[in-house]
Amino acid sequence: MHIRGGKTILSLMDVSFEVKKGEFLGLTGPSGIGKSSLLKCIYRTYVPTSGDIWYTDSMGDRVNLVTANEHEILRLRKYEIGYISQFLHVIPRVSAMDVITGALVEKGFDRKESEERAKEYLSRVGIPTSLWEMFPSTFSGGEKQRLNIIHAIISKPRMLLLDEPTASLDPNTKNEVVSLILELKKEGTAMIGVFHDHDTMIRLADKQYDLKLEKTKELCV
Ligand SMILES: Nc1ncnc2c1ncn2[C@@H]1O[C@H](COP(=O)(O)OP(=O)(O)OP(=O)(O)O)[C@@H](O)[C@H]1O
Ligand SMILES: [Mg+2]
Repeated sequence: MHIRGGKTILSLMDVSFEVKKGEFLGLTGPSGIGKSSLLKCIYRTYVPTSGDIWYTDSMGDRVNLVTANEHEILRLRKYEIGYISQFLHVIPRVSAMDVITGALVEKGFDRKESEERAKEYLSRVGIPTSLWEMFPSTFSGGEKQRLNIIHAIISKPRMLLLDEPTASLDPNTKNEVVSLILELKKEGTAMIGVFHDHDTMIRLADKQYDLKLEKTKELCV
């Protein structure tokens, strides 16, 4: 840390696991153990002081996410690696409908089809039609979160990092979000996710890595 006189905070050590195409790994461990920090290292918001994070990209090349240059990281974030943060972020001054339609247009769908699909997704996660033309900055926590989730899902990343994506959702909406995530997983997206509730993790994850025990456990899905 720059403040506090260069004090060092040890967050993660001796972490090792593997996730394959179409596989979901659930990260568990007590609050403050470093689950979010680990996802941030993979997304390269944080740079670990040692170790490697190997990612095989769509061309079959192995990229070390710890040492890859900024340009490479931006390319991967744009086309291959998605991240749903534990905290909500919204794009200011763009309506919910335009956020989703825009992402679909970027994926190559024509405008008309993008609008149809955007409506389908917004309804599926229960965002009321009265909000579609509003700026997401005025949305409730759960509404913002649902918008973030569909935004990340429609871009169909090859790898998706999820940090407590269902934390503020009611049971019905949670079910809908879980089924969206499962659909994406079936299409081959590799996923690493943190969940505060064990039941949701069990529904999604094929294996679990516990940061306290530092080991992987296979789960029956
Ligand atoms: N940028 C940072 N600067 C200083 N300390 C940090 C930073 N990021 C994380 N930490 C510290 O590292 C530890 C791990 O934090 P992290 O957010 O990864 O925990 P977590 O396992 O995700 O917890 P939770 O379950 O509460 O979300 C915490 O003690 C936190 O304060
Ligand atoms: Mg966290």
